[in-house]
Amino acid sequence: MPAADFPGTYGASAHNVRGDYRDMRPDYTVVQDYGTYAEDDQDRWRRLYARQMRLVAERACPEFLKVVGTLGYESGVPRFDEVNGRLGRATGWQVVAVPGLLPEQTFFGHLAERRFPVTVWLRDESEFDYIVEPDIFHDFFGHVPLLFDPVFADYMQAYGRGGLKADGLHALEYLARLYWYTVEFGLVRTGAGLRIYGAGILSSPGEVAYAISSPAPHRIGFGIERVMRTRYKIDTFQQTYFVIEDFGQLFRETAPDFTPVYAAIAGQESFPADTVLPQDKLFAPVEDSR
Ligand code: PHE
Ligand code: FE
Repeated sequence: MPAADFPGTYGASAHNVRGDYRDMRPDYTVVQDYGTYAEDDQDRWRRLYARQMRLVAERACPEFLKVVGTLGYESGVPRFDEVNGRLGRATGWQVVAVPGLLPEQTFFGHLAERRFPVTVWLRDESEFDYIVEPDIFHDFFGHVPLLFDPVFADYMQAYGRGGLKADGLHALEYLARLYWYTVEFGLVRTGAGLRIYGAGILSSPGEVAYAISSPAPHRIGFGIERVMRTRYKIDTFQQTYFVIEDFGQLFRETAPDFTPVYAAIAGQESFPADTVLPQDKLFAPVEDSR
């Protein structure tokens, strides 16, 4: 499967695609064969989880923190069936096991049906601190807890439907940026200051503190066109994060038909990832107590 088929967005990068795509169903789903996780995988999962839980406490958004510790993740690699029982009762979402990155339309189709594709394999020990593509830890730890939030859950489904509807290369590029700057790298303003809801940050050991406390990146108030026109980096910490007020804002501002938005920005140039515009609303970093 050529890497060029993949957008490098619904996960991470467009280098050689990893994963075993031989035994999948037509919708790219596979069966989780729990016996394939060796004891050292289980141990690595538990260490990844313990480290990340310490980092996200007081930095992740409350909707995430409310759920992440209740899923049994401390005991080892999660079982899809077990998580699905609880997730289905909460929001009607399900997780489905996949070999790795998916073609865009396949990915959109799953989201539109309230199915979140979760990579079935766990990173190697050599990737303990950094991994380029999504693995089972990134997906279960970073993405799944927020699927328990009703408003965020509806946003994810709307995104999938929007992807199916959008045709033409330009729209897909804009939609990919929206996903990147919200689902993967979004920040949210709370009464206690900036917090993280993006899965790419939440599952990263280095970026959690950086995203809300480093003076280096820009933190800019969310706007649809602003986000859609902004390029992003896939192999370094982000130079810009976009800040929402709450998930309600995200849902409402993405609800209108994007067709005129795509048309309006089609002729305009894109902004480099580190751009600040005069009309941007900038947020200060939060002090890091630890
Ligand atoms: N409202 C968008 C459209 O008309 C669909 C969408 C919703 C896309 C939410 C992304 C996120 O295309
Ligand atoms: Fe992801």
